[in-house]
Amino acid sequence: MSSSDFIDLEEDMPYDASESERENIEIELLLEGIHRLYGYDFRNYAVPSLRRRIWHHVHSEQLKTISGLQEKIFHDRDCFERFVYNLSISVTEMFRDPNLFRVFREKVIPMLRTYPYIRIWHAGCSTGEEVYSMAILLHEEGLYDKARIYATDMNDRSLQMAKEGIVGIQKMKQYTKNYLEAGGTRSFSEYYTAKYNSVIFQPFLRKNIIFSEHNLATDRSFNEFNVIFCRNVMIYFDETLRNRVHGLFHESLSHFGILVLGAKESIHFTDFTDSYEALDREEKIYRKIK
Ligand SMILES: C[S@@+](CC[C@H](N)C(=O)[O-])C[C@H]1O[C@@H](n2cnc3c(N)ncnc32)[C@H](O)[C@@H]1O
Repeated sequence: MSSSDFIDLEEDMPYDASESERENIEIELLLEGIHRLYGYDFRNYAVPSLRRRIWHHVHSEQLKTISGLQEKIFHDRDCFERFVYNLSISVTEMFRDPNLFRVFREKVIPMLRTYPYIRIWHAGCSTGEEVYSMAILLHEEGLYDKARIYATDMNDRSLQMAKEGIVGIQKMKQYTKNYLEAGGTRSFSEYYTAKYNSVIFQPFLRKNIIFSEHNLATDRSFNEFNVIFCRNVMIYFDETLRNRVHGLFHESLSHFGILVLGAKESIHFTDFTDSYEALDREEKIYRKIK
């Protein structure tokens, strides 16, 4: 190809592409490249929040364009890892939405009591607060010894923090309030030891928890569960990815298995609406019926 061919190609290019078209192309190329290079698939994340996060990362890396970020991510694994961390919104709390945990005690625990063995999966567990909440709840209901909790996330950094079971002491006031509202029956301080500005959860809470990396966009089912919690994760996915993940959960739940979603999520408008009945519509607790 001669240099004049390049000139012709340039002339054929849609040089009047609007800013937003350019941005869409840059985002698509970035996500496609990340998928091919690193195996992480963000191509079916909901666009508005994805776009905000990408720009946030462009600025935090002191860059000006998404193409600039693409170059850096492609050549610098650390930059890619910071990107994953930034994209995985890790906001969480102990006994987040306390009423959900109260209803779980009332409506789900009696069913779990009848099982010889309980397997629970927390998909997208972030830094582990939801998982320790479940361990405490099961302990108080006398079910922890026959339970295994699988805590997974795509974000390795969050998982490391979850494994350590350390949280800032300044959060304890809110967490104690949530614990009591969630129907906690003891003194919350029994479950941790304070050290300087942090608290560490009692080791017995960790003994039946298995922490592991798992990506809902690319990985498969790995066990059969009586309960799956996946809260405040699928709000960041588009419809295609939500349906994929619901397929994964449906495959992974035993008959009459329980699916718990986040306050802003629902089984409705997915391909699996008819496979569940609501145990508590308000708190997004569903039971698999077929
Ligand atoms: C907002 S947190 C939710 C934490 C907890 N479930 C709660 O409701 O408090 C969302 C979590 O989903 C994880 N996540 C996002 N995309 C994921 C994926 N494709 N596979 C697994 N985890 C994912 C993020 O890393 C983050 O830790």
